[in-house]
Amino acid sequence: MKKKLFINGEWVEASKYVPLHSPYSGKVIAEIPAATVEEVDKGIEAANNARKTMAAIPSYQRAQILEKVVFLLEKRADEAAEIIATEAAKPISAARAEVARTIQTYKFSAEEAKRIHGETIPLDAAPGGEGRIAYTVREPIGVIGAITPFNFPMNLVAHKVGPALASGNTVILKPAGQTPLSAFFIAELFQEAGLPAGALNVISGSGSVIGEKLVKDDRVQKISFTGSPAVGIGIRNKAGLKRVTLELGSNAAVIIDQGIDIDKIISRCVAGAFGFQGQVCISLQRAYVHEDLYDAFVEKFVDATKQLNLGDPLDPQTDVSALITPNDVQRTLDWLEEAKQQGAKVVAGGTSEGNMLVPTVLLEADPRLKVSCQEVFAPFVLINKVKSVDEAIELVNDSRYGLQAGIYTDNVHTALTAAQQLHVGGVMINDIPTFRVDHMPYGGVKESGVGREGIKYAIEEMTEQKLVVFNRN
Ligand code: SIN
Repeated sequence: MKKKLFINGEWVEASKYVPLHSPYSGKVIAEIPAATVEEVDKGIEAANNARKTMAAIPSYQRAQILEKVVFLLEKRADEAAEIIATEAAKPISAARAEVARTIQTYKFSAEEAKRIHGETIPLDAAPGGEGRIAYTVREPIGVIGAITPFNFPMNLVAHKVGPALASGNTVILKPAGQTPLSAFFIAELFQEAGLPAGALNVISGSGSVIGEKLVKDDRVQKISFTGSPAVGIGIRNKAGLKRVTLELGSNAAVIIDQGIDIDKIISRCVAGAFGFQGQVCISLQRAYVHEDLYDAFVEKFVDATKQLNLGDPLDPQTDVSALITPNDVQRTLDWLEEAKQQGAKVVAGGTSEGNMLVPTVLLEADPRLKVSCQEVFAPFVLINKVKSVDEAIELVNDSRYGLQAGIYTDNVHTALTAAQQLHVGGVMINDIPTFRVDHMPYGGVKESGVGREGIKYAIEEMTEQKLVVFNRN
């Protein structure tokens, strides 16, 4: 299968192609374009030329295009899930769940397109404002450069493309190198749904070539990036006055207070740690368990971990499949070796099978180890004993990251204290940090990023507030 670039509403032959391999089998699954700077330039030009057309389309029509995409994606949901499973090695059950969420994200985008509004301002609240009436409107900012990751290749594309088009912007999308097929598939649906030419352009290829061009080009008004902190911080440093939304990594944690019925939460915690091989920014990486429950929690967690099936992502029985690259398997094993040498204990996994890392549980890991303080992004979890929730909160906050955190507690005072003291973008009470539905505000503090996604919140960041003052004096 050979894919073309999607520029100005057309499928355009690229000057260079590279093979795309399955992370699970290593087999070539497609030939994909590796765009040159000139090809990226054409995409930006098309997006720039389409600005006026998009901004002039009434919001009900923008909503209709998004609703049509929802309809088309519902019809082709099985095909979409197979694309995700094949290119990302996401187990097919998780890939289906991602398609269902993508449908939600475009549905919310269609709805939000119709409720983008400003406010009226009582200008006479200040001396000199008498006799004047003011209101604000929100206008599209223009061309959005969207750079998306491999881990949710359809839904995280939707989180940028959906709100951008809903609010009358145009997009140049650079999907992750490993997962462009999901993005090209979505472009097909937008083309069929009647999106004006140039409103969405999809350019695959080298992150540094395309990213550099998008960040530096003055025709691009905003970069919306999801990916690693190193790349995100680089974008921020080069972006100048361009707007930037960054969704970066984390080493997300859960706290388990005394008195919790652990039988009720084990399967949820295991899913949070190992879902899509732990390659989720809010994957459960650190668990801090009250000493009263620690031994029982570890035993039950390890038993449940050992039940997980490793294998082909297209097999419905598979829970855990390959990591995105062999380098990630090796990196995780190297970090694990460091942890073992510093006294941490492996009680499950710790080995690899092909490109799959066997789900790994580590105890007594020092907070300064890489496995504690960096983002592992693999099926890997640390379980540590704490004497109190206060101690756990300090450990959770002792991190460069702050995306989401969870706490299980039956004590409402403890819950409210944790909600106040945890330094993260979202606190989940009586749940793992891995909870997300697509209309909630989502984003982090510290090195986890800047800005918020969740369609309504992304639209705020993709529109400019304009003030209009009427003087009736
Ligand atoms: C992410 O990895 O940041 C996205 C998590 C999600 O959408 O569930």
